[in-house]
Amino acid sequence: MTEFLAEYKTIIVFLHVMSAMVWVGGMIAMRFAAHYSFMEIESPQKRLERTAHALKNLFTIVTPFVVILFVTAIIMIKGYALSASSLSSLVHAKEGIWIFMAVNLFSMILRRNKAMKLLEAGDTLRAKNALGLIGKYMVPLNIILGIIAIYLGASLSGAL
Ligand code: HEM
Repeated sequence: MTEFLAEYKTIIVFLHVMSAMVWVGGMIAMRFAAHYSFMEIESPQKRLERTAHALKNLFTIVTPFVVILFVTAIIMIKGYALSASSLSSLVHAKEGIWIFMAVNLFSMILRRNKAMKLLEAGDTLRAKNALGLIGKYMVPLNIILGIIAIYLGASLSGAL
């Protein structure tokens, strides 16, 4: 793996950084640009439908990048032999953050699907509660964790 990383380092780091950019950047754009625009829609049913639809698109776009981020991370862990190095605590912190972010994303996908079913059944109130939790806590939590992971990545990059 060391030789593989040495040969393809540029493309692997590029894919890693690109994936972080799409995942974290996508959530920031959704939360701080699209969200406030959707809130201007007067009909609650339409507003929630648009929000659920946009979230579906976001989750579909980010999921492959979540996988690429993990695959490139594994290649770097093996290639740089990071688990046995003095940087292992930083690496474990990033692994933990990735796992937490991925589980949070998976929960958001399930919650959004449930909200969509509630909307189709005309239960606007419960759909609003389900989507509200995603917007208020789950997306912001992943944005914060993603920013921490990027900072840890910059520390790792400087130390390698
Ligand atoms: C799964 C666990 C992870 C591991 C083991 C890991 C490992 C690394 C390593 C070794 C580097 C340095 C690459 C180099 O300079 O050669 C790096 C950089 C980076 N990582 Fe991760 N990473 C992980 C997860 C994440 C996550 C979840 C994000 C953000 C969502 C992220 C964002 C970044 C960024 C933006 C850089 C580039 C920093 C820079 O070049 O200054 N990483 N990562």
